[in-house]
Amino acid sequence: MNILLTGGAGYIASHTLISLLESGYNAVTLDNYNNSSPEALRRVKQLTGKEFTVIEGDAQDKNLLVRIMREYRVEGVIHFAGHKAVGESVAKPLMYYRNNLTSTIAVIEAMLETGVKNLIFSSSATVYARDNKMPLTETARRECINPYGWTKYMSEQIIRDAAKAKPELSCVLLRYFNPVGAHPSGMIGEDPSDVPNNLMPYICQTAVGLRDHLTVFGNDYRTHDGTGVRDYLHVCDLAEGHVKALEYAASHSGCEAVNLGTGTGYSVLDMVNAFEKVNGVKIPYVIGPRRAGDLDECYADPSKAEKLLGWKATRGIDEMVRDGWNWQKKNPKGYRE
Ligand code: WQD
Repeated sequence: MNILLTGGAGYIASHTLISLLESGYNAVTLDNYNNSSPEALRRVKQLTGKEFTVIEGDAQDKNLLVRIMREYRVEGVIHFAGHKAVGESVAKPLMYYRNNLTSTIAVIEAMLETGVKNLIFSSSATVYARDNKMPLTETARRECINPYGWTKYMSEQIIRDAAKAKPELSCVLLRYFNPVGAHPSGMIGEDPSDVPNNLMPYICQTAVGLRDHLTVFGNDYRTHDGTGVRDYLHVCDLAEGHVKALEYAASHSGCEAVNLGTGTGYSVLDMVNAFEKVNGVKIPYVIGPRRAGDLDECYADPSKAEKLLGWKATRGIDEMVRDGWNWQKKNPKGYRE
């Protein structure tokens, strides 16, 4: 089965690509590399010894998507392509709405034009409202506080409505919690193009000396140690979840939202302490003010993923911090070596 990965050179996409290839799928990647590197794809080929098709282009281009789906007899699409920086989305909302929504619409239109039925969408726990009780189930209230989150919310709605109008479509909306870590080889990993917004890449860049310390955004949250609690998920577990979602979509129709998380929350200091213990590297940090918009805690109820997809995260915090560090120390400047 040939699967098209839009945004295929990205962090989660490149890890999913490995899982797909190792599960016997063929793949086509489409990426404009504006926030990723083709080097990631070269390394996937090296790592797996498997061939796949690499195409440079924009997922907003419906005609290109139609050509690809026809030429490569695509039977499923995993739609990763999209801008994903929360802060940037606040500064440039129209760029986010145009890019993220246009690409989602173009993917669905191209699928309908070429008879491709299976769509897996890269969504996010960011679609959940802030006043939900933990753990979060898929029926929790949804509301966003930044344009990035709204583009995920709206893309989900576009897909849901398209699946209602076209019952031949089979769609799974995967709501990621906090993806971290890297493939154990250390050959691919998270490579932020600027100063990292997210905790784990910031810790890794501090450990490798690119940053002189971590700022902990607040220690007065209602959590066990006062620092923010999140549901960190090893990116390889997340990748495997996409393969399971594809298998599910291929034997069902309709549209299902599914949380991909571990169901366990860890605090900022839990992550720092685990990183130091497992890797033997000190992470200097200071306690700073809270970051606007941050929640005290956010973690998943992952039971639907287990019941519907037969998926459950298997990698714990020690593997997350070990593999994240292994990537960073082997690639201090990411793919820009
Ligand atoms: C985690 C914790 C911070 C950086 C974001 C996006 C969300 C999703 C996942 C795409 C929080 C603390 C962080 C730092 C810190 N991405 N922190 N110092 O905010 O849970 O979710 O990534 O879908 O959309 O919002 O992840 O890694 O930014 O923060 O103390 O330098 O680490 O306060 O408690 P977040 P994060």
